[in-house]
Amino acid sequence: MNQVGQKSVKDKICMSLPAWTYQHAEFFELEKNSIFRRSWQVVCHVSDIPEPGDYFRFDFLDEPLVVLRDSQRAVRAFSNVCRHRAARLLDGEKDSMRGSCSDGLIRCPYHAWTYDLDGRLVSMPFEGTYEGFRKEDCRLPEIATDIWMGFIFVSLEPSTPKVSEIMAPYEDSLSPLRMGEMKALGRVALRPRAVNWKNIVDNYMDGLHISVAHTGLRGIAGRNYRLVAGEHVQHLRSQLQESGSVGWSERMYLRVLPERTDLPEERRRLWEYFLFWPNVAFDIYPDQVDFMQMLPISPGETLIREISYALPDESREMRLARYLNWRINRKVNAEDRDLVERVHHGMGSHDFTQGPFASNEVCLKMFADRVRGILPVANLAEQPAGSLADLMTPE
Ligand code: FES
Ligand SMILES: [Fe+2]
Repeated sequence: MNQVGQKSVKDKICMSLPAWTYQHAEFFELEKNSIFRRSWQVVCHVSDIPEPGDYFRFDFLDEPLVVLRDSQRAVRAFSNVCRHRAARLLDGEKDSMRGSCSDGLIRCPYHAWTYDLDGRLVSMPFEGTYEGFRKEDCRLPEIATDIWMGFIFVSLEPSTPKVSEIMAPYEDSLSPLRMGEMKALGRVALRPRAVNWKNIVDNYMDGLHISVAHTGLRGIAGRNYRLVAGEHVQHLRSQLQESGSVGWSERMYLRVLPERTDLPEERRRLWEYFLFWPNVAFDIYPDQVDFMQMLPISPGETLIREISYALPDESREMRLARYLNWRINRKVNAEDRDLVERVHHGMGSHDFTQGPFASNEVCLKMFADRVRGILPVANLAEQPAGSLADLMTPE
């Protein structure tokens, strides 16, 4: 038995992850390698890169990546790092991270090594002077991709089922939304948060706080909140309905939201949420869909990457419904920001180790158990002394 097993003073499967795992530099590195490199991360939608040569840049962990449309119109992903001196190759427009290699070539801005859209090195200045080097043997490393409902995902070391496989059971239910035909509403928003990534993910799956802390949302979504835990995806949903005191934005939203007769009736007032392990959330509304991706930056820093997509519909009612949705959720985001910062602050206390889960906190429990399954050192309620690597080495 390794030392982690011996030192586990508690085996409380109904306890939250211990606070030290939310602020420990070495644990954070373990999460990057054992959780995030193996996960599927959303980058953009197929409609963001419609033509050959169009690309979308994505920096994940320490990896500069790029998703592009090749000359056959296939979606591909590559390392965005030149094989010569490691310069980042493609930048994309400031803010949007999108761009186009309209001549079908990726040209390094440093010394002009040039790659085609299959990632092959096709030209390099002074080719004959690199003794023993054959450009024919050189190409950009390709990254695994998956497309689910038009959204493009990548994985550095794929070892879990693809999102399209995980979501196959939901396909019939979601297909009327025609997510594959959607287009971006605006640009990716980046919202830095001075908290651990798990603080934000926990809060996203936390059903108990809706009726306490979201004074606007609870008036339309608080009563019908439902959670279903899964190993790879957590599913939350609420049939919107006015209950109790309802704020102006919420009441107006329910009033102006167009009756989408192309959707089954149960979907016309449904707010549905999916959290793909470990950090990618999709918010699915009758008027739009957005993703929210909690990118780990450091133990105490997370970047929320967020953007909405919708079917083309410029009717006054739909534009107003989208605006009101944004207004409602902007308030929810501000409330959640306060909550996660409050929790992050509290987790710094020496007097707090971990707290219990209620029997209906199924998603939070599933998530914590999965982290413990991958990194058993998280079973230790107290932060261990010394290096975590020593604890995890079998004797
Ligand atoms: S670093 Fe790209 S060509 Fe030199
Ligand atoms: Fe919340």
